[in-house]
Amino acid sequence: MTFEQWMRGTLDRVETALEHYLPGTNVAPARLHEAMRYAVLGGGKRVRPLLCHAAGELTNTGASAVEAASCALEMMHVYSLVHDDMPCMDDDALRRGKPTVHIQYDDATALLVGDALQSQAFVALTADGNGLKDAQQAALTRELALASGSVGMAGGQAIDLESVGRKLSRPELETMHRNKTGALLRAAVRMGALAGDKPSADNLAALDQYAAAVGLAFQVVDDILDVTADSARLGKTAGKDAQNDKPTYVSIIGLEASRELAVQLGRDAHAALAPFGARGQRLAELADLIVNQVN
Ligand code: IPE
Ligand code: IPE
Ligand code: MG
Ligand code: MG
Ligand code: MG
Repeated sequence: MTFEQWMRGTLDRVETALEHYLPGTNVAPARLHEAMRYAVLGGGKRVRPLLCHAAGELTNTGASAVEAASCALEMMHVYSLVHDDMPCMDDDALRRGKPTVHIQYDDATALLVGDALQSQAFVALTADGNGLKDAQQAALTRELALASGSVGMAGGQAIDLESVGRKLSRPELETMHRNKTGALLRAAVRMGALAGDKPSADNLAALDQYAAAVGLAFQVVDDILDVTADSARLGKTAGKDAQNDKPTYVSIIGLEASRELAVQLGRDAHAALAPFGARGQRLAELADLIVNQVN
C-alpha cells in the first residue's frame, strides 16, 4: 500500500468513527450538538488520529480500539482550537476554511462546545465495546488527561497567553511549544501503541522520542506557516502571530533557523524509529509530511 492509499483509508475510517462518537443533532440539546459537529467534522488534517493509527500498527492495535483513541484525541484537539480562537484568546474568525464556532454561533456556545468535546473524548475512551480492555481504558484516559491538562496543553496555552508581547528565551519558547502542542501529539503516538499489545519499555521510549521530535516540529512548522502561507492555504488567518504579538520560533530565531530546526527535528524523528526498521515506515512518512510543508 502506498502512503497516499494508507492516508486515504485511515482518514475515511477516522471520519466514520468521529461521526459515530459525536452525538447526533436528533439528540437534545440539538444546537450544541450541531455546533460540536460543525467544529469537528469535515475538516482539519487529522494529524493526531493519523499518528495514533500509525503507532497502533506497531503493536497490532485492533480497529475499534484505535478508532476510539483517535476520536478522543481529535475531539480534545478540536476543543482546544475552538477555545484558542475565542476573543479572550487568539480572537480568530477563520478555522478550517470556515467561520470559527464563536462567529458562526456565539461565545457561550463556543465555550460549551469545547467543554463538551473534552468530556466526549473521555466518553469515547471508556465506551463499552470500544475494543479497549478496562486497564487500557484507564491508561489511555490518564495519558489524555495529563497531555491536555495544566502540565500539558492547557498549561502551554496559559504560558502562550502570558507571553504576549514578551521576548521569551529559547528554552522558555521550547517549553511552551512542547506543552501547548507537543504534549497532545506525544499522547497520540503513545495512546496508539498502548491500545494494542503491551509495548516493551524500550519500544515505548523510542516512540516517545519520535513523538517528542514530531510534536515540537509540528508547532515550529505552524509558526513558519503563519508567516509564509496565505489564509486560503491554511484555512485560518495568516499573519495572526505577529498581529497578536506572540512569541514564536520565527520571531525569536528567524525564518531560516526555524526551517533548519524543523528539518533537524524531522531527522531526529527518523533516527528514533531505527529500532522498528521497515515497520516504522508510516510514522517516518508522517514526520516527513509535517516537516515538508515548509521545505
Ligand atoms: C493547529 O493544529 C493548532 C496547533 C496545535 C498548531 P492543526 O494544524 O493540527 O489543525 P487542524 O486540525 O489541521 O485544523
Ligand atoms: C494553538 O496554537 C495550540 C492549541 C490550540 C492548543 P496556535 O494558536 O498557534 O494555533 P493556530 O495557529 O491558531 O491554529
Ligand atoms: Mg494560540
Ligand atoms: Mg491560535
Ligand atoms: Mg499558530
